[in-house]
Amino acid sequence: MRVLVTGGAGFIGANFVLTTLANRPDDRVTVLDKFTYAANPHTLDPVADRITVVRGDIGDAALVDPLVAASDLVVNFAAESHNDRSLDDPSSFVHTNLVGTYTLLEAVRRHGVRLHHVSTDEVYGDLDLDDPERFTESTAYNPSSPYSSTKAGSDLLVRAWVRSFGVTATISNCSNNYGPYQHVEKLIPRQITNVLTGIRPKVYGDGANVRDWIHVDDHNDAVWTIIERGIPGQTYLIGADGEVDNRTVVESILELMGRPADAFDFVTDRPGHDLRYAIDSTRLRTELGWSPRYTDFRSGLAATIDWYRTHRDWWEPVKAGVEASYAKTQTTLD
Ligand code: NAD
Ligand code: DAU
Repeated sequence: MRVLVTGGAGFIGANFVLTTLANRPDDRVTVLDKFTYAANPHTLDPVADRITVVRGDIGDAALVDPLVAASDLVVNFAAESHNDRSLDDPSSFVHTNLVGTYTLLEAVRRHGVRLHHVSTDEVYGDLDLDDPERFTESTAYNPSSPYSSTKAGSDLLVRAWVRSFGVTATISNCSNNYGPYQHVEKLIPRQITNVLTGIRPKVYGDGANVRDWIHVDDHNDAVWTIIERGIPGQTYLIGADGEVDNRTVVESILELMGRPADAFDFVTDRPGHDLRYAIDSTRLRTELGWSPRYTDFRSGLAATIDWYRTHRDWWEPVKAGVEASYAKTQTTLD
């Protein structure tokens, strides 16, 4: 199969490329990526001779069209992905997440190519801490941030192109990923690399916000399951029953790195900060037979800490810039 992976130099997309090459050696992979700040140009170095890399924008129709025409499958990971940045400047989120997805949809429509669109649980808004319900495929969309609203819009575009134009597409909405190659602006790598560089970890607000953690390899395994066995036009939620509050995540990182569990700071909260996400992945498990392999979050976290400890070259060049940028808006709370 000829697979076009958009956003294949970012965190989840690059892991997808690496596992696809390992598990499906006969597939031909092309990566289309704009190489924004979020892409690390070295992640794909070890497989450079096995893939084609195109540097460009998914919103550039003239570039996208022939790449889609030459593919059997498009997997769209390309996005502006970070909530904090979307609060600072939403413009690139509107362009990439909405116009970019529209451009891909028009190309797969023209050429009759299968699309899998990768999205997020944040389209559903948030839950109370004590709400017994979790998100399902029929939960109403209720996004909170510029990031999540543009992802919600991109999902709705896909649904409309399926219904109105008969495009063959599936959508997945996944919870918070962790694992190797994640940018140090995100919670888990930020705190691990803070400890490794002598900076106290930073927890937004009171740290009670809950995220539903899943290892990136489990997410990508679910994406392939949906591509192979999913029903075109359907949405599938991906989650691994990994709910943990942020304070506990940071305390666990500190303990696993041999530091006192309270050696962190509470800092300025994120405006509009979603309280809790929780995924019910029953459809994916019962209809398509998927289940996660990383069921112990603490051991997955320990492996991720080891990866950042042994891959300083990968993250060190951008660490100081990320912290300088956060320091402009985040101050330590008393
Ligand atoms: P990321 O920010 O690490 O990577 C995004 C990639 O997209 C980067 O390589 C970037 O260069 C590329 N890109 C950005 N704009 C582009 C454009 N206009 N054209 C081409 N490429 C462009 O993001 P990620 O965490 O790997 O997320 C990938 C996808 O998964 C996103 O759609 C995101 O919404 C979704 N998702 C992420 C998570 C998570 O926890 N990280 C969870 C659920 C869903
Ligand atoms: O739920 C899926 C989403 O998960 C994806 O769609 C997004 O692309 C991805 O970035 C992630 O969004 P979050 O906003 O949940 O991730 P982030 O790592 O930014 O923050 C996780 C939680 O930790 C959130 O409650 C904010 C908090 N936080 C974050 C940082 C960076 C802190 O307390 N301290 C921090 O330094």
